[in-house]
Amino acid sequence: MSLTLTLDRAKFLSQYWQQKPLLIKAGLANFSDLIEPEILAGLAQEAEVDSRVIEHRGDQWLVSHGPFASYDDFGDSDWTLLVQSVNEWMPEIHALLEPFRFLPDWRLDDVMISFAVPGGSVGPHLDQYDVFIIQGEGQRHWQVGERVTEANEFRPHADLKQLQDSFEPVIDAVLEAGDILYIPAGCPHHGVALEPSLNYSVGFRAANTAELTSQVADMLLAAEGANYPRYRDPQQADYGQPYQVSTEQLAQLREFLLHSIANADLDNVLMQVMSQSKRPLPQPDFALQWQDIADCLDADMLLCRTAGARLLIDPQQQNLYASGDPYPLTTANRQLAISLASQWQELPLQHYADQLSHADSQQLLCHLLNDGVMHLVSEAAANAAADDDY
Ligand code: SIN
Ligand code: CO
Repeated sequence: MSLTLTLDRAKFLSQYWQQKPLLIKAGLANFSDLIEPEILAGLAQEAEVDSRVIEHRGDQWLVSHGPFASYDDFGDSDWTLLVQSVNEWMPEIHALLEPFRFLPDWRLDDVMISFAVPGGSVGPHLDQYDVFIIQGEGQRHWQVGERVTEANEFRPHADLKQLQDSFEPVIDAVLEAGDILYIPAGCPHHGVALEPSLNYSVGFRAANTAELTSQVADMLLAAEGANYPRYRDPQQADYGQPYQVSTEQLAQLREFLLHSIANADLDNVLMQVMSQSKRPLPQPDFALQWQDIADCLDADMLLCRTAGARLLIDPQQQNLYASGDPYPLTTANRQLAISLASQWQELPLQHYADQLSHADSQQLLCHLLNDGVMHLVSEAAANAAADDDY
């Protein structure tokens, strides 16, 4: 299945991305749903899947967290089921991210899918994420305002943030299947289902200072055998009063922190952070030896990127980074690494036969398979699964 985004990308990037909301009518032309509401509801019955139901009852807002045993009690109106990271559970939803790869892979967060019955809404709110909301079946009425720097937010429920004040919509539209609403972080928005309806939200992450610093610190702590400098301030004549921190002490500690971070191979650490997946990747049942790759080439195998895996290449193309780990590149396997990082959907392993003629390439692929970044499925099994769908 191929989904084509109808969008003037250059104009979008210069005028809208992270600046202004945009309604892209028929942004995905001839869009037909990638999931049935019943399947989505079934997914939210699984304990590992992150899901919520938000109900609006009179002037009360209720939030329940999955897994859901049944939906019978929610009735026919005024509730929405929201399921996070559906792309990681269903390959057909993973495919929905491909048209958005004119934006950097490392910014991609996930696809959240919501199913709402008439009147269903999560209320007017702001998100800290840039999002493309794709309308599936049914109609939803959306209003979106210009970006705000300050907003009166409140919690009508401990797990729900909304806007206290109304906002002036610059987009006020009823979305139909294939329409896309682009909402930059910080733009107030409010969607209300007019009919039972599905929305697919392709979200982009942007860490704030605290999140990024914490991720960098986690990486530094996890680095095996690292020997970081430790703060020292010997040979002082007098430290002064024990409770009194001096300007010099503060400046020295600040300098120590900034200097040691700058010297901590920060680019490498950032690449590791940027390539981290949202949750640990599923691991293979058994490990391959790199010498096995040649045999796999002879068997009819499809090579797939594991949904949720992020594959990135640093500016000097010295390493492929995936799920927080660097994989050193050589002249012999660099081209394979680039091909794998660009591949989104499954491809016959045979496609890489030439690139896999060198041991370095076989070793790289073997590592990626053993770490769960890529996986192989037999073509026969994939065909049988596709037949089951029809
Ligand atoms: C929804 O899908 O109804 C909510 C999505 C959002 O506003 O972020
Ligand atoms: Co939102």
